[in-house]
Amino acid sequence: MGEGVVSMDRQGTVTFANPEALRIMGWRDWKLSDDESEEAPEVLGFKASIESVTQSALTAETESGEVVRVNETAFKHQEGHSIPVSYVSSPIFEGSEFSGTVTLFQDITLRKEMEKTLVRSETMSALGGMVAGVAGVAGVAGVAGVAGVAGVAGVAHEVNTPIGVSVTSASYLESQTKGLMQIVADNKLSRSALDNYLDLCKESTAIILSNLQRAEQMIKSFKQIAADQASEQKSRFNLKAYIDDVIRTLRPELKKNQLHIEIVCPDDIELESYPGALSQVITNLIMNSLVHGFSQNGAGNLRFEVMDEDKIVRIIYRDDGKGIAQEHLEDVFAPFFTTRRGKGSSGLGLHISHNLIYTVLKGTISVSSKLNEGVQFVLNIPKSPE
Ligand SMILES: Nc1ncnc2c1ncn2[C@@H]1O[C@H](COP(=O)(O)OP(=O)(O)O)[C@@H](O)[C@H]1O
Ligand SMILES: [Mg+2]
Repeated sequence: MGEGVVSMDRQGTVTFANPEALRIMGWRDWKLSDDESEEAPEVLGFKASIESVTQSALTAETESGEVVRVNETAFKHQEGHSIPVSYVSSPIFEGSEFSGTVTLFQDITLRKEMEKTLVRSETMSALGGMVAGVAGVAGVAGVAGVAGVAGVAGVAHEVNTPIGVSVTSASYLESQTKGLMQIVADNKLSRSALDNYLDLCKESTAIILSNLQRAEQMIKSFKQIAADQASEQKSRFNLKAYIDDVIRTLRPELKKNQLHIEIVCPDDIELESYPGALSQVITNLIMNSLVHGFSQNGAGNLRFEVMDEDKIVRIIYRDDGKGIAQEHLEDVFAPFFTTRRGKGSSGLGLHISHNLIYTVLKGTISVSSKLNEGVQFVLNIPKSPE
């Protein structure tokens, strides 16, 4: 069972919902109807059911920027009945400005049933600690939700406005330029016509630039959750060649930050798995070292070591940067956990990596770290997941 993802703007209007969210809520679609001014009734239903989420996220944001976690509550299904859910809701920022919320939620019907069975069980006392255990496992399941976390559709919808504005400005600029060319061709160019044109040029390029930058920013912040895992095909690939390829795309960034990367991997490991998921995990690990591990221009070392363990491969990733504080170690895989809130970090990178490893690659990941000595992530990945 997967994780629903819904994003809302600061007015509480739904701007995106993934297929899993639609399934849990029983909606046909989340999109605005054609005239864009009216919302589909399904969306209204959702808004009502998570109004409190938005409200608390909004309040929490203005007060402290905190993430809201609710372990057990109910959302209203499209057909009227209520669905037990747990959710985590976080503010999103565009630059330093609060722009809305993202909510990740899970249908916890199964978990509740398990808890009930346990409570009823006569061996309840014998099982003692297991209730806590189940709750703990459910917590982990929250991290390991399946299905595509968000789709390209969400990004497309979000960037629609700035791209649209840019296109309009660029076409206006184009037509005015043609007009000016005609004036020049007719030898009728006056000082004031030229001044007018230059003003217009300056204004439209500023509009185009700022809107394209906004679109770029949005794509960046959604890129992480746009892991469309469902669409990915299983394929056969050489692990070393693939890791080399992924790292090649990151080299300019590493070089700029004076980070040295070493890859130790046997040449002959072949995987029959999902390279896209793996590349996202590797990218997240490296980007985290870059962002969190080292101060700007502080040199450092990153290292991938791969071991062939028959049916699985073990990948050990290390950096020798600032490390993770002991009290944060168990939170790093939780959705929205970040130590750089409001500075462009979403806290979704390791959550998504964890998801991909457990549900797509069918492997495991663990972390260890000492403050000021760096981090170590150990990944165990089957060569061929079922
Ligand atoms: N290589 C690293 N060095 C130091 N801290 C790290 C490293 N990788 C992850 N972290 C910590 O784990 C947190 C969660 O990481 P992640 O889920 O990728 O979210 P984000 O990068 O958006 O903050 C980071 O905010 C940071 O505190
Ligand atoms: Mg990250």
